[in-house]
Amino acid sequence: MEVIILKTKEQIGEAAGKIIAEVVKNDPAAKLGLATGASPVPTYKYLISKYASGAISFKDVSAYNLDEYCNLPRDDENSYYTFMRKNLFDHIDIDPANTHIPDGNAADPDAECARYDALIEKIGGVDVQILGIGTDGHIGFNEPGDSFAPGTFKIKLHESTIESNSVYFKNGDMPRYALTMGIGTIMRAKKIVLIATGKAKAGAVKAMIEGEVSPACPASILQTHPDVTVFLDEAAAELLTGNHAKREV
Ligand code: GLP
Repeated sequence: MEVIILKTKEQIGEAAGKIIAEVVKNDPAAKLGLATGASPVPTYKYLISKYASGAISFKDVSAYNLDEYCNLPRDDENSYYTFMRKNLFDHIDIDPANTHIPDGNAADPDAECARYDALIEKIGGVDVQILGIGTDGHIGFNEPGDSFAPGTFKIKLHESTIESNSVYFKNGDMPRYALTMGIGTIMRAKKIVLIATGKAKAGAVKAMIEGEVSPACPASILQTHPDVTVFLDEAAAELLTGNHAKREV
């Protein structure tokens, strides 16, 4: 795991964005694993600016999102489908047919999870996966538990996640369930870039990087992946005791 501590969210967005842009430059038909939440937004802004300046194209790129809420209309302002359109897809030349998000409203969630896994199986795993981390150490919506889920599945969200994410649901109750790639699906990515900023993430970041590898902190599994870069700001890194790279930009 390479851990890089930067001063601002914008610097992190640029540094993480450069990694993604490089993958796309090397393979114009790259398969990107994408995430929602506030953490990747500056990275998406950087990628949009590179597209706008003509430096990269997403014409042949395909995208695979980590997760989606259940029982939330696809066009709801808080669906991850809407989030991705608003924060990335509507601003680049990606073909909407090449953007994939699990269908949280599928009549048969098990069949939908199997369909999504087959899609990722077919491409042999994404080339690069962007991740955030929940305050409880979740990645995607893999909540702490007794085991690491191998594939995409339906999860009941934990109270701490409902508490963190309900700030976005101004007009009502937030969904209690979601479909998410499993840890096994996420670990198939050839390269992983995780972003965490702010004090609220410091405990989860410490457990992920310096704790034991355990499903009690799902993100800790990343210690066993061969190519992970973690970008943190000072606040998210404040509980770390190891000697990690600090970069002044
Ligand atoms: C949600 C998403 C995760 C994300 C997490 C943190 O639970 N399912 O993929 O990493 O929120 O979000 P934020 O980046 O807004 O802190």
